[in-house]
Amino acid sequence: MSYFSNKTVWITGASSGIGEALTYELVKQGANVIISSRREEELKRVQQQACQNGLSGQTGASNVYVLPLDLEAAGSFPAKVQEAIGAFAQIDIMIHNGGISQRSKVKDTLPAVQRKVMEVDYFSYIELTRLLLPHMQQRKTGHIIAISSVMGKIGTPMRSAYAAAKHALHGFFDCLRAEVWRDNIKVTLIMPGYIRTQVSLNAVTASGGKLNELGKNIGNGYPAGKTAQQILKAIRKGKFEKYVGRPLSQEWMAIHLMRLFPTLAFKIFRNAVPE
Ligand SMILES: NC(=O)c1ccc[n+]([C@@H]2O[C@H](COP(=O)([O-])OP(=O)(O)OC[C@H]3O[C@@H](n4cnc5c(N)ncnc54)[C@H](OP(=O)(O)O)[C@@H]3O)[C@@H](O)[C@H]2O)c1
Repeated sequence: MSYFSNKTVWITGASSGIGEALTYELVKQGANVIISSRREEELKRVQQQACQNGLSGQTGASNVYVLPLDLEAAGSFPAKVQEAIGAFAQIDIMIHNGGISQRSKVKDTLPAVQRKVMEVDYFSYIELTRLLLPHMQQRKTGHIIAISSVMGKIGTPMRSAYAAAKHALHGFFDCLRAEVWRDNIKVTLIMPGYIRTQVSLNAVTASGGKLNELGKNIGNGYPAGKTAQQILKAIRKGKFEKYVGRPLSQEWMAIHLMRLFPTLAFKIFRNAVPE
């Protein structure tokens, strides 16, 4: 029996990339999964695929609940949280994963774009967490996961909004961990390196348009399926913070260099070729 058997996991950003891969892996391991993002038809495709991949006899459509959600529509969150709790009568694990990246220089980036990235990548995570906490505190159990990034630890050109949002996640969720451990609620921050997903295609530009380019690093990135397995291992082990992605890669080195030699790291990262 897997650690995730009969647990209920809510995943945002489940219509593609890392969230989609997490859904497949969790269903295989016997979890009930609530999947959210804006595109309902894509969520239904993931639901169908997840059930086909599931262990025969143990999973079915009833193990995956489709809950459309726009992370920019905070007004809808209270009702969405109640619906999510009601889907399987409890939520054991929340994986905040939905997000957008950004490709633009500070001097060109419109304030509305800076705010949009913060809204999706940061404010939605903290508000959904606030609304879900009473449920977990009442049950005296829970695990909250925030998908950050290597950009939550370093800074490079062309990523100011994205890196700001991801850095903010570390401050917030580290504080949350210090507040809720007595309620038996765990908090894990995940820092993916380059993962092969739609992330760069969906990234916003200086004026808020869609980049629509598959960058070289993302195109050659680590597979989302293997990433999902690494994330589930980190959850199982109750890690505070974990890099996931290609082992011993430049991104992995970046995190360690930043910790040990921040000035040297900065001198290297400032030359990162924007893509
Ligand atoms: N791929 C990488 O190299 C990498 C590296 C570090 C961190 N990450 C992080 O990993 C997470 C997942 O990204 P990914 O790589 O899997 O990219 P992806 O394929 O573009 O997936 C992003 C997901 O977020 C959802 N989303 C975007 N805006 C949303 C909104 N306003 N409301 C609700 N859902 C929204 C999308 O669904 P809809 O369009 O259906 O709404 C989609 O399911 C993100 O937090 C990203 O920052 C990725």
